[in-house]
Amino acid sequence: MPQYRSVFKDETKLDISYVPSKLPHRDSELRLLVEFFSFLLKFPAKMSQRVIITGDIGTGKTALSQRFGTDITREASKNGMNLRYVHVNCREYRGSLFIILHHIISVFHPNFPKRGYAAEELLRNLLQILDEENMHLILGLDEFDSLVERESSEAVYKLTRLQEMRQNKSQRLSLICILRDLKTLSRLDASTRSTLQSNLISLEKYSKEQLRDILNDRVSLAFKPLTVSEETVSLIAELASSEGGNARFGIELLWRAGKYADAENLDAVTLECVRKAVSSIIPTVRKSDLASLSFHEKLFLMGIARHFKEGENAHISLSEAEKAYHIVCEEFNIEPHSHTQLWKYLHSLSSVGIIETEVASFGSRGRTTIIYLSRISAHELEKELNALLEKEA
Ligand SMILES: Nc1ncnc2c1ncn2[C@@H]1O[C@H](COP(=O)(O)OP(=O)(O)OP(=O)(O)O)[C@@H](O)[C@H]1O
Ligand SMILES: [Mg+2]
Repeated sequence: MPQYRSVFKDETKLDISYVPSKLPHRDSELRLLVEFFSFLLKFPAKMSQRVIITGDIGTGKTALSQRFGTDITREASKNGMNLRYVHVNCREYRGSLFIILHHIISVFHPNFPKRGYAAEELLRNLLQILDEENMHLILGLDEFDSLVERESSEAVYKLTRLQEMRQNKSQRLSLICILRDLKTLSRLDASTRSTLQSNLISLEKYSKEQLRDILNDRVSLAFKPLTVSEETVSLIAELASSEGGNARFGIELLWRAGKYADAENLDAVTLECVRKAVSSIIPTVRKSDLASLSFHEKLFLMGIARHFKEGENAHISLSEAEKAYHIVCEEFNIEPHSHTQLWKYLHSLSSVGIIETEVASFGSRGRTTIIYLSRISAHELEKELNALLEKEA
């Protein structure tokens, strides 16, 4: 029996629930959050805070809020202060204020009865608990949109304006509301909206370079040394960037690519592992797209597929691709088309999204076109093309 080996050192660092201790490229947003709560850290009973975090899918909203929650709790306890952060995904509780509040209370009183209360009573109960414990609670309401959609404006109003209804009493509850799209808030009345929106943190989509930094951090946490090359990380960053700068997509891809490497007993996560991983998540190239290519486009693509299959190449130049195409033509006993024709094929292949191209300059040698294959496994592509070409030849 061959000994089981793995490229992973610690797979849990790629879990969706794992919150890394550092969040590259979110320093200023984290600082802003700290800034919003700095007064509260000094005088917890004197104020409460409401913050909104917004941004597209996978821009780090949840991670940012959880990181902040852990950091501020630690900071507060150093100062001997009773402060807690509780993170709730509203969608998990079907956006119901009642179920959400019940869940929060059960964090403090696990056996709290489920029946016999209305949401408003639960809210009062929660405040009473916080008063008794002399505690300030920061509530991270993730996927806040589901709460806004399910509940009336009034319910959200109560939750957000709670403190004003408790005049002359200690401030106990702060909110961090997390949502992708601010448009959801238009359902709320103007005053609730304005209280919420005064402290807004918007997360921009990650660029390819930023995604690369995020992924490199995870690589060093989750993988054994030298198992993931720069090229592999770049390819994943590129793909995550084209999926809307979504870090989650990148991390999932990294994990799956590692799984493919282990399944094939490789000692490194190759580019081909990444291509397999991406086509297992999203069907990037449809078979019908391949079938509708012309005969020579298929031959040309076949040459490209073989190049990527045979070595750990991140790209291929047009002239190399042309050579590979000539070899395929020879095999099929067919006269190759001209260089100008190949240009056109290249264009149509990239517009269908099977390959990507880029013009690169190489010092004094001038410019050259280079071709990438990132969305489909080279083995898979060759197999498909073989089947199609056999039918046509
Ligand atoms: N700056 C960062 N550094 C390290 N990891 C990050 C960073 N930003 C996001 N991530 C990771 O990427 C994944 C997605 O991030 P997160 O879940 O926070 O996104 P989100 O904005 O909440 O997305 P959604 O809108 O889908 O809920 C998580 O695994 C998170 O740990
Ligand atoms: Mg989230």
